[in-house]
Amino acid sequence: MDINLNERYSHRVQGMKKSVIRELLKLTAKPEIISFAGGLPSPKSFPVDELKIVIDEVMENEPEVALQYSATEGDQVLVEQLIKYGNKAGNDITEENLLVTTSSQQGLDLVSKVFIDPGAKVIVELPSYVGGLGAFNSYQADMIGVPQDADGMSAEILREKLEELDKHGEKPKFIYIVPDFQNPAGMTMTEERREEILEIAYEYKVLIVEDSPYRELRFEGEDVPTIYSMDDKGYVILLGTFSKIFAPGFRIGWIYANPEIRNKLVVAKQSTDLCSPAFSQRIIGRFMEKGYLEKNIEKIIEMYGKKKDLIIKYFNKYMPQEASWTEPEGGLFLLVSIPEHLDTSELFEIAIENNVAFVIGEAFHHDGSGKHTMRINFSYATEEQLHKGIKRLGKSLKEFIQANKKE
Ligand SMILES: Cc1ncc(COP(=O)(O)O)c(C=O)c1O
Repeated sequence: MDINLNERYSHRVQGMKKSVIRELLKLTAKPEIISFAGGLPSPKSFPVDELKIVIDEVMENEPEVALQYSATEGDQVLVEQLIKYGNKAGNDITEENLLVTTSSQQGLDLVSKVFIDPGAKVIVELPSYVGGLGAFNSYQADMIGVPQDADGMSAEILREKLEELDKHGEKPKFIYIVPDFQNPAGMTMTEERREEILEIAYEYKVLIVEDSPYRELRFEGEDVPTIYSMDDKGYVILLGTFSKIFAPGFRIGWIYANPEIRNKLVVAKQSTDLCSPAFSQRIIGRFMEKGYLEKNIEKIIEMYGKKKDLIIKYFNKYMPQEASWTEPEGGLFLLVSIPEHLDTSELFEIAIENNVAFVIGEAFHHDGSGKHTMRINFSYATEEQLHKGIKRLGKSLKEFIQANKKE
């Protein structure tokens, strides 16, 4: 090629980085490796038998809709189901609030497209979902991290950061929060903290993007309302997805937002993909109509709850005392911390030699911190792999700590 592509690429693309997780996943593809790295649902969670019924019926009765383009806003059957579904969960939405997306990652991209100019400030959690950071980064956001404590994003530090920005006449575009069984930490923001964060958002006039792919998957503890449902001023944009409660292969999610923002997102989506796949939407809509989604969620909760108990049991048995971990009440992940002077990217090499994998914590910190942490997914591995894999991880960590003992 005789063109210097770097002179042709947009500034935006030059700042984009390959997803660390996707790169690591390539290393973990060897069959002998037990991987806790990907954020994959268990294949056993997929409702194959029910789907066969629904797909047959849709192909028999309405192929002309399912195989056609749909409206940008969403397929009518799915839209009706999503309104019912959202309102049953305590929200107050109508068609005007709803946009069907090609999964939550598209939601993150559309929100970025609508709000972020190069250099715009965005507040993120420390740690935060790597795909959110990637989306904001690709629109050249200037991210500001706010650490979490046991109750969620620190309200005190959030206020400090907003105050600081205010002094320079700056307003962040939004605060990005994954409040339920967070990816990567597994923690859930308490109701009190949600109220506090929302109050601060009102005070400083900053929007909130609430990204919540895991909230339905609670296996213990009390349900906490969405920040969206607490908001009576239209500040919160909620992102939902069928990836973890149904199947990521369908690539369908949704956004609830105030009608003005929702209409901007619709326009942004038109130039991205015109519409989400009509086939996926109509199948999910009919699947929900039959009451299959609730049953599937119940099945997943039972399956993952059991896996979470097992992984905690194996952590207690095999991990050295220098390690600590979060204990999630739902979702797919937990976060392990090791002594602060150690770096899990070095541990990763030993772990791969011992045929076990995880994601290094640094990937979830936009500022390069969190090096002594790692994310563990417990939904994908079988129960037997959970046992073997955590035994291997414990062994790797003991070797690593021994090798790094200060003289
Ligand atoms: C917090 C969060 N947001 C968004 C997504 C993207 O999900 P999807 O695009 O499959 O809906 C994920 C996936 O793991 C996630 O953890």
